[in-house]
Amino acid sequence: MKSDLRIYIHIPFCKAKCNYCDFNSFAGMDYMFKPYFKSLISEIALYSNELRGRRIDSIFIGGGTPSHVDAQYIYEVLDCFKFDESAEVTIEVNPGAIGYRNFAQYRQMGINRISFGIQSFCDRILIYMGRVHNRSTAINNIHECKASGFDNINADLIFGYPKQSFENYEESLNVIKSLDIPHVSCYSLSLEEGTLLDNMVKKGVMPYPDEVLDRKMYDLSINSLQKANINQYEISNFARNGYECRHNIGYWNRDEYLGFGISAHSLFNETRYSNTDDIHHYISKLSKYEKPVVHCGKLTQDEIISEYIILKFRMNSGVDIANFKDEFGFDFEIRYEEKIEKLMLSGLIDKTSNTYSLTRLGMDVANKVFVEFI
Ligand SMILES: C[S@@+](CC[C@H](N)C(=O)[O-])C[C@H]1O[C@@H](n2cnc3c(N)ncnc32)[C@H](O)[C@@H]1O
Repeated sequence: MKSDLRIYIHIPFCKAKCNYCDFNSFAGMDYMFKPYFKSLISEIALYSNELRGRRIDSIFIGGGTPSHVDAQYIYEVLDCFKFDESAEVTIEVNPGAIGYRNFAQYRQMGINRISFGIQSFCDRILIYMGRVHNRSTAINNIHECKASGFDNINADLIFGYPKQSFENYEESLNVIKSLDIPHVSCYSLSLEEGTLLDNMVKKGVMPYPDEVLDRKMYDLSINSLQKANINQYEISNFARNGYECRHNIGYWNRDEYLGFGISAHSLFNETRYSNTDDIHHYISKLSKYEKPVVHCGKLTQDEIISEYIILKFRMNSGVDIANFKDEFGFDFEIRYEEKIEKLMLSGLIDKTSNTYSLTRLGMDVANKVFVEFI
């Protein structure tokens, strides 16, 4: 019997582009809603064979800012799938780009998890980030969301932003705790080439991110959230027991998923696919009922093993040696003996009973661990 399937849907539209963002998303393109959603629905129809007979365990509607588009569009896309209330169905929403009525509409269409792009609760930092909302809009939206019956709520935060102080970030974590939000994603700022922030830093208008402070803020995230029983379960993710994001855990466990929309990725039948990132190309392909896939690669067994190890190391639960043997038929400790010894001696990984996982130091330089298994 085939395992459960996960679905990702990319909504690339935003009210405004944030200064740090290099995701495939655009502001000022609202006139593209109609053709884009028509294409999305055509794309899903092209996958009827892959979807047939598969139970959907999670759907993630990400962006961009999915809450920026009329809820009716979201309804029409969700209506293409068969899923029941046991599925985890998430939508990313941005404070300042959502009306209070939307939460009730989302619940009616089967959405049961809301992921807020909060980033910070400090108005000064939100301005530096180029966000469309302020602290009070965010807090009001979270109250409205709860009043509409949602309890499975995530907040995204960014730390290490230029001019963001330790105390300032600590205050944002404290607001999260006081609002009783059960899931938090804390992302270390990644200064991306070509973004407005990158240009400002290069011109000296904003200071370079401070790496030492960034690591202190990361420590703070782990320790401060733990005090509220919001425990780290992945490099950037923290949750109260039972509120871990099933969709993302599915990615890290290499469950099969289909991604729809521009620049969406899929893992299906041990093959990785990616869609075009050009919205015009996407719409044009689908107007001819052709899949908008631009890359497709069947994974070799070595690539599968490598992905397995790297993705398991992202999670605090790490690589379980018995599960590894069940999956691949050989011993993790024997095959990688030298690498394991080297990483243990450098203090980057550790062993507890039957599992290997990143140490706190290993989380800072996770790529150094991953590269050993490529
Ligand atoms: C895929 S984005 C979706 C946008 C989201 N709806 C929002 O509110 O901006 C998911 C999250 O990635 C994080 N993110 C985006 N760009 C980042 C960057 N350059 N560095 C660190 N985190 C970033 C933000 O926390 C954002 O909420």
